[in-house]
Amino acid sequence: MSIKVAVFVGSLRQDSINRKLALAVERLAPKDFSFEHVPIAGLPLYNQDFDGDYPAACRQLKQSVEAADALLFVTPEYNRSIPGVLKNAIDIASRPWGTNSFAGKPGAAIGASIGATGSALSQQHLRNVLTYVDVPVLAQPEVFIAFKDGLIDGDGKISNDDTRKFLQGFVDKYVEWVKRFR
Ligand code: FNR
Repeated sequence: MSIKVAVFVGSLRQDSINRKLALAVERLAPKDFSFEHVPIAGLPLYNQDFDGDYPAACRQLKQSVEAADALLFVTPEYNRSIPGVLKNAIDIASRPWGTNSFAGKPGAAIGASIGATGSALSQQHLRNVLTYVDVPVLAQPEVFIAFKDGLIDGDGKISNDDTRKFLQGFVDKYVEWVKRFR
């Protein structure tokens, strides 16, 4: 049976290196894994007043998470933390209180940046948030990609053998992690 993964890319940018990284990881996954990118660009800014009557876009987001068996977060680092657009989506799917859509779904946080630290600090903050919303997060390997031009193309093809091997190692551990929760 196919294992459905809801993918959150924390960048809205057309040419996002994190979207490329997500596609690269998906290409390395076994055939019984399917990936759906969760749209987060059109969500309203979370407002606790929503909770009495959740907006349609927010309900749709929650359904996408609930329909998934597992989660994959691929995030840039903005000013040493999580981009607001990603945090907003997490806040929305975690609410209204008592209906946290993430609860118990296994996940992983990876990312790329153009800086040497490869989005490490953003991922550290994200792990904190994901733990609070009850996502068991794969501990190792950490994936901090210091992205260089041409490393991964728009279809997720990786040009560097070492990066491909490293990402395959991540995917193998991720697959094993997700299957533990089946
Ligand atoms: C960045 N960038 C960045 N990089 C980094 O390594 N650490 C940081 O704290 C930041 N901060 C930051 C803030 C803002 C507002 C922007 C727009 C950018 C650079 C970032 O790594 C680069 O723009 C990546 O290309 C963003 O990822 P996507 O959008 O290509 O996936």
